[in-house]
Amino acid sequence: MKAIGVNGSPRKKWNTATLLEKVLEGAGSQGARTELVHLYDLDYKGCISCFACKKKNGKRYGICAVKDELTPVLKKVREADVIILGSPIYFGTVTGEMRSFLERLFFPLFTYTDPRGSLFSRRVRTAFIYTLGATKRLARERRFDKHIAATEALMQMILGTSETLCSYDTYQFEDYSKVYAPCFDPEKKARVRAEVFPMDCEKAFRMGARLVRELR
Ligand SMILES: Cc1cc2nc3c(=O)[nH]c(=O)nc-3n(C[C@H](O)[C@H](O)[C@H](O)COP(=O)(O)O)c2cc1C
Repeated sequence: MKAIGVNGSPRKKWNTATLLEKVLEGAGSQGARTELVHLYDLDYKGCISCFACKKKNGKRYGICAVKDELTPVLKKVREADVIILGSPIYFGTVTGEMRSFLERLFFPLFTYTDPRGSLFSRRVRTAFIYTLGATKRLARERRFDKHIAATEALMQMILGTSETLCSYDTYQFEDYSKVYAPCFDPEKKARVRAEVFPMDCEKAFRMGARLVRELR
């Protein structure tokens, strides 16, 4: 049993990465082998519309034909049993690197059939972890939840299952006194970091453990 985490944040030790580590710890507690991949370490682009993955009787049918540093990661993700993606919300959506990764993972598997379908047939468990600077209420007002729900539906359609964990009101800056960001109350941010973020980490751990158990 293999659980893979994919970090779409440029930061390797901050909110998104920490939650991904917790999910993988949870998966590991149930005996899964785990690996965390940091997308920002890799040199790659999104889908280039070459359509090699769609070519009738093509050698690369259903497989991304682009060769770059994402190629081995796509293979590992497609072979994993538990797939956990993580991204901060940047201007209402996932980071550019996560978006490019999703295009390369999903487009080869997606079929232009009626209804639309997926070539992915393995039984896996998947989840997406989002971190947001916004509070839950603000995220709703700004309609970030629509994007998150649309990505969950896409993952369910392509990979069979998916669930979502959101961590809101995250602690964004190492030192709030050094940045100009008057809309934030540093004391409230510190309180959320000390009291709520550990609960999100606990939820992430439990989710990782459960996803492995569900596959048994
Ligand atoms: C370029 C950029 C854009 C952002 N846009 C949003 C946004 O639209 N909504 C939001 O809630 N937070 C936004 N944030 C805040 C991050 O989503 C939040 O701090 C997140 O937890 C960062 O993840 P990390 O700690 O793993 O780096 C933005 C941050 C950056 C750097």
